[in-house]
Amino acid sequence: MKHQIRLNVNGDDYELLVDPWRTLNEVLREDLNLTGTKLGCGVGDCGACTVLVDGKSVSSCITLAVAVDGKKIETVEGLAASGEKLHPIQESFIEKGAIQCGFCTAGMEMSALYLLRKNPSPTEEEIREGLSGHLCRCTGYNQIVEAIADAADRMKTDRGKGVKP
Ligand code: FES
Ligand code: FES
Repeated sequence: MKHQIRLNVNGDDYELLVDPWRTLNEVLREDLNLTGTKLGCGVGDCGACTVLVDGKSVSSCITLAVAVDGKKIETVEGLAASGEKLHPIQESFIEKGAIQCGFCTAGMEMSALYLLRKNPSPTEEEIREGLSGHLCRCTGYNQIVEAIADAADRMKTDRGKGVKP
């Protein structure tokens, strides 16, 4: 039997009828067409599917949609509206060469957002620890760490300009 759930995704409210076994990742990608959130391993190991649920980073592939009924979900699509200025984290990822195939990027960026909200001036070690749940097959990680350090600097400036952190 399907369950009715309510989600607030990137500021928009949705009422959905979902089977109890469907994951948040499936509902985001298939029902809401928010395909920026990727599906990699599907078992909680790679971080590609990371989104924020009530501000905390979560693997959407192992989270049932019914378990997040009533919650606030943030996905990569919420970082910058289509056609608008990119979020400082996205700008830093591009400028520092932290994206190659891009499959890990949305999840990395959401974990970066989670980290920088908690800790606006992380050390390199804290950044690496913040990324510990993420796998990247392309970049070797150094550019991603550099990008997050750069984003931290940028967000301090951008906050002053009114960009939402
Ligand atoms: S797809 Fe969810 S952790 Fe890999
Ligand atoms: S850029 Fe390809 S997996 Fe990270």
